[in-house]
Order: sequence, then C-alpha cells, then structure tokens
Amino acid sequence: MKKQMKGIILAGGTATRLFPLTHTTSKQLLPVYDKQMIFYPLNTLVKAGIKDVLIIIAPRDAGQFLNLLGPIFDRHEVRLEFKVQSAPRGLAEAFVLGENFIDNDNVTMILGDNIFEDDFSEIIKNFQSGGHVFAKKVPDPERYGIVEFDKSGKAVRIVEKPKKWISDYAIPGLYIFDHRVCEVAKKSKPSDRGEIEITDLMNFYLKKSELQVSQVEGEWLDAGTFDTLLEASRIVKEKNLYENFDPKIEAAIAEFNEEQKVLAKKQLQ
Ligand code: G1P
Repeated sequence: MKKQMKGIILAGGTATRLFPLTHTTSKQLLPVYDKQMIFYPLNTLVKAGIKDVLIIIAPRDAGQFLNLLGPIFDRHEVRLEFKVQSAPRGLAEAFVLGENFIDNDNVTMILGDNIFEDDFSEIIKNFQSGGHVFAKKVPDPERYGIVEFDKSGKAVRIVEKPKKWISDYAIPGLYIFDHRVCEVAKKSKPSDRGEIEITDLMNFYLKKSELQVSQVEGEWLDAGTFDTLLEASRIVKEKNLYENFDPKIEAAIAEFNEEQKVLAKKQLQ
C-alpha cells in the first residue's frame, strides 16, 4: 500500500530572542505582513497535498492556537491535530511526540518560523523512502545546521551550528523522512546543549546513503529575530508571497474572519 505523507509543524519553544513580544503570545502567531506566521508553513504543507498535520505547541499557547485553527480547517479537508510539548528539548523531539501520528507513513516536518518561496509539491509528492532535506547558501553559516558537499556535489557531512567553517550551505527547516525517523529520534542522545539534534537524524540517513539534498532556489526566511521578522514581512509583501495560498487555507481564513465579525457584532449589542 502506498504510504501517505503526513505533516508536522513545530511551533513550541519559548522564542526568547523575540522577548518581550513572545511574553504574551507564540512566535508563530505573530504577524508576517497580513497573516499569522503559522499560515506560511501550513501553506507549504497543504499546497503539497498533505491533509493531516500535527502542530506541536507550548502549553501556554494551546488556547490561542485552538481558537485560530481549531474547528474550521476540518471543514476544509485539512485535519489538524495538536500536541503540547511541555518543554523544548530539541527539534528532533517532534518525531518522538509525533510517533503515533506518523505511524507507518512518511512525514514532512517544517519549522513554524520558516517561510519559503519555493513550491516543494513535486518533491513531497514523489518521496518514497529515506530522507530528503534542502540547502541554501547563507552569509552566516555559524547560525544554522550546515551541509558540506564533496567536489562532485555529494553531501558528505552535516553539522549543527559549526564553530569552525565547513561550508556556506545551511539546511533550512524543512525535512522529509520515512517513519524510521521516530526510532532514530527516540534513541538519539541529547547534545552538550541538552537537546536532541535534528542533525543526528539527517546523519543517520546520510551514513546509509539514503539522504537526498536539493537546493532551495527562491527566498527562505527564518523569522526568529526582530530583524528577520521585519525582513520576512517586507519580502512577503514585495514578492506577493501572502497571496495565492492554497484555496483550502484561503477559505478557512475567510470563514474564521467572518465568524469573528459576527462575534464582535454580538458583543457590541
Ligand atoms: C534550527 C536548526 C538548524 C536549522 C535552522 C533553520 O536552528 O537547529 O539546523 O538550520 O533551524 O531555521 P534554530 O533557528 O532553532 O537555532
């Protein structure tokens, strides 16, 4: 039987780099131009045909996420599930928390603050097994997970935030794996910074020669700091990335807006 592709959005964490904004709400609910940030990664998944999405959130923000995304998406053929991450223990924990949800299927995980211009539908739809991640040249490689290529362009090494330069190619927060990733994540030991690292999971597939790496051609934004959050809104507006969302998402947002208007009117009466 053909495996399904499930989706996970990691939207937990405390986002201390955005204090005081994130004292009162989740980073992924902050605005990027005219929408809450979470809609951009959700669109990347839904556009690629994914209908089952698990959103991992921090305990404090559960109410706000449910209010925004709760019942409406079901009516638009996108089934959302939520799971609370009691404390942030690393990106790879998404696959521990998501084990039952993923089951025997494949999974695309996207970080809730990553916004992409590219359409990954073909790669996601054609994925069979192993792992598939992406690479994008950056000016500040010490900030990211980095991939080193050999002369033939084959990925040979992946290191999280290398202190010593190894390459300028960052791995953005979009990862496609088969279900074996859950076992690997469960067995993974926390690093010196106390987190189970996403790079360990990629290295598992790399060692088996089962990891593909494709280039990201268009814009990739990681809206995790004041400057990149501002930059994200500017680029989203300039490149019209806020338009032409998947029709299912457009319809759900429109319905939510309508409901809120009715509610606001009632409260005034
Ligand atoms: C995380 C990952 C890193 C990745 C980056 C992409 O870093 O650990 O490998 O390149 O996201 O946004 P963070 O931004 O959480 O420091």
